[in-house]
Amino acid sequence: PTVIFRSPDGTERKVTAESGTVLMQAAVSNGVEGIVAECGGNASCATCHVYVAEDRSELVGPPGDVEDEMLDFTAAERRPTSRLSCQIQLSDALDGLVVHVPEEQV
Ligand code: FES
Repeated sequence: PTVIFRSPDGTERKVTAESGTVLMQAAVSNGVEGIVAECGGNASCATCHVYVAEDRSELVGPPGDVEDEMLDFTAAERRPTSRLSCQIQLSDALDGLVVHVPEEQV
């Protein structure tokens, strides 16, 4: 699937990754700016925060319990569509997904 990362300034980065790839990993290995991912994907740093575009947020689903707690520690404001990108696994159903990168991560 292909995912579009939209920066706060409106620039977009299109990234294509294998199904099953973790969204944070797809961002980091493609050098997407603004995804820091300090803890390496353990849902314990909240620096891989993204806002899932409204139209797909139901499909992506809600955060798990641990993630939900971590989302209270994001540097940028938490919104209803906030997720930690290390906790989202890509699938073909998510092809074309747009995620917004927040203003700050630390
Ligand atoms: Fe640390 Fe996602 S990489 S919470």
